Amino acid sequence: MEKVLILNFGGQYDQLIARRVREHHVYCEVHPYSMSLSAIKAYDPSGIIFTGGPQSVYKEGSYHPAEGVFDLGVPILGICYGCQLLAQMLGGRVTAAQDDSAREYGKTETFLDGDCALFRGLPERSVTWMSHGDYMAEIPAGFRLAGHSAACPTAAICDEGRRLYGVQFHPEVNHTEYGRDMLRRFLYDICGLTGTWTMGNYRDRAVKEIREKVGNGSVLLALSGGVDSSVCAALLAEAVGPQLTCVFVDHGLMRKNEGDEVEAAFSKWNIRLIRVNAKDRFLARLAGVTEPEEKRRSIGDEFIRVFEEVGREIGSADYLAQGTIYPDVIESGAGDASVIKSHHNVGGLPDFVDFKEIIEPLRLLFKDEVRALGRELGLPEYLVSRQPFPGPGLAIRTLGEVTEEKLRILREADAVYRETVDQAKLPGVSQYFAVLTESRSVGVMGDGRTYGYVLALRAVTTDDFMTADWTRLPYEVLDRASTRIVNQVPGISRVVYDVTAKPPATVEWE
Ligand code: XMP
Repeated sequence: MEKVLILNFGGQYDQLIARRVREHHVYCEVHPYSMSLSAIKAYDPSGIIFTGGPQSVYKEGSYHPAEGVFDLGVPILGICYGCQLLAQMLGGRVTAAQDDSAREYGKTETFLDGDCALFRGLPERSVTWMSHGDYMAEIPAGFRLAGHSAACPTAAICDEGRRLYGVQFHPEVNHTEYGRDMLRRFLYDICGLTGTWTMGNYRDRAVKEIREKVGNGSVLLALSGGVDSSVCAALLAEAVGPQLTCVFVDHGLMRKNEGDEVEAAFSKWNIRLIRVNAKDRFLARLAGVTEPEEKRRSIGDEFIRVFEEVGREIGSADYLAQGTIYPDVIESGAGDASVIKSHHNVGGLPDFVDFKEIIEPLRLLFKDEVRALGRELGLPEYLVSRQPFPGPGLAIRTLGEVTEEKLRILREADAVYRETVDQAKLPGVSQYFAVLTESRSVGVMGDGRTYGYVLALRAVTTDDFMTADWTRLPYEVLDRASTRIVNQVPGISRVVYDVTAKPPATVEWE
């Protein structure tokens, strides 16, 4: 299999680089900079990328790759800190830029040499994204300059004979105009790859591997209805359907039709799907609870109790499957299997069922790949493109005490709102949902006075959900949503729009 190795030197864009490489249909893995030479040889990469990093290469204790990595004959692309490593380790000189002279942050006009294979066919002048305080004062012997900017004379270097390339800027960031093309040139023209990583291929391979591993054994999966657990279930169903048991706890706090949709999506496979309709016991548990953290705790506790009961019924399984995905793997130690959180998806279940081993069939995939695999497996679009949805569900979008009546109102209003936004087909909206506030307000409909709940609409734009901006939804869309909701959903008299970023707010209200 064609594969690229990304050595992580602590840069903030390591995952982004990996995603960009995968977008070119090339498989890659992110590993710590300290990966040994023998491990690198065993991985057998067709190309290596050094990421950026916050350190200075000339300082004692700074991160360096294994000695001998340059002698493997494998093409290397160094980005930012990675570029400076190439320069310093191969005989050049890196220093701090004096008096801001060669220091650059942000969009920078850069001149690139089209004779260098990395930039062949690209415009001589374009914008790149720079973020560096150090610079290459001298480039190493055997290299030549392949790019510069007004402030920095050494923006790109290459040694075409040894297939070593370094760029001071970040090709993985969208602000670098031709960054995608540069990565493509590295992967295809320089490393000689052809782009064989597709979800169709992955599906065939994964099905085969799961069958080999599981044999006649039984597999258990907690299905939440989210994208990851749903795709994991579909893949396992395809591979070992009759041996698979999925436990789906419907806590009654899902969005409109969600529980039935999950069940319907899996009806085409011959699997054992245990749907536990636990609405009443969750509502009973939430009666009188108004404090957000207590709500979360109550729901978490109740989940464990339900799983405990189902677990007793099931008894044991050979394998417990989890929908862990690659960002979780990278975050928990860059591919070091020993430190991966095993209870990541659904707490509770593993403690009450005996099992021999955990399997994680999605652990090498990014979220967009998981969605593509889901489509490949024939899961319906409403499941595959589902937005993030918190475990405690609508309970934390119903402010104050959760009651069946409030849930009914919120579920309807949320469905109308999401449908209205969907129909507008707007780019760049990451998550959107409605929140039922505790406030009530006076309205007038027909000749009558109304007194109903105030509904808040939320839409956010974000890359990672750690920070988020409120989305500037067009007024017409907000107007349509508001009109439809007040007309169609009894119990709501007024609609407001949340214009708070995260921070200082969070995405969810509770
Ligand atoms: P916050 O509100 O923390 O949300 O800014 C960030 C993202 O996480 C989702 N979220 C949750 N997801 N369990 C989850 O699985 C939770 O308890 C939970 N709380 C928030 C939220 O929807 C947003 O996408």
